[in-house]
Amino acid sequence: MKVLTICGSLRAGSYNRKLLKIAASVAENLGAQVQNADLKVLNLPIYDQDIEDVGMPENVMEFKSMVEQSDIILFVSPEYNHSVSGALKNAIDWLSRGKKSLDQKTAAIMGASDGAFGTVRGQAHLREILGALSVRLIPSPELFVRFADKAFDEQGKFIDPKTQEVLERLMKKTFELYDKLK
Ligand SMILES: Cc1cc2nc3c(=O)[nH]c(=O)nc-3n(C[C@H](O)[C@H](O)[C@H](O)COP(=O)(O)O)c2cc1C
Repeated sequence: MKVLTICGSLRAGSYNRKLLKIAASVAENLGAQVQNADLKVLNLPIYDQDIEDVGMPENVMEFKSMVEQSDIILFVSPEYNHSVSGALKNAIDWLSRGKKSLDQKTAAIMGASDGAFGTVRGQAHLREILGALSVRLIPSPELFVRFADKAFDEQGKFIDPKTQEVLERLMKKTFELYDKLK
């Protein structure tokens, strides 16, 4: 099983990156090969049809091919103004152009925020966006890491073991969905 992780935050000290690292190790424990598509390194241009019309940029093609070669995509995003981050929405917009890289893919979504709602509104938007692109997601469990500034210990692990439990169930059910649909 090949899992590709994508983080919607570009910030080095990102809580969502911490969450992504834990999720990647859960996926590895389930036997997956995990690769990360780092949006900061990929540095995709802002989507512009004029750019697309002269040919997809090399970094966009590289990103699309990473997604196309993966079995499961794991999106971990902060919530910006009640939605997904602009960096993630832009990346998804590129994936929807040319060959539809996300079509019929199985994915998991999760997020961390320093507020009380833990990306609940951002994830609702992400679910809707991915639905438009025929991405398959499990309906539950959902993982909202609230008060993220207090959710991780110095080793980058969850302080609350229940959060780890939900994450493990989410990943396991996503793997099962992939197995059922392949
Ligand atoms: C532009 C912007 C908008 C934000 N909007 C929200 C929001 O709507 N809801 C929320 O819970 N947190 C919001 N936050 C706070 C983020 O949850 C917080 O900055 C978080 O640490 C970002 O994720 P990261 O640590 O992975 O970078 C916002 C932050 C930024 C920079």
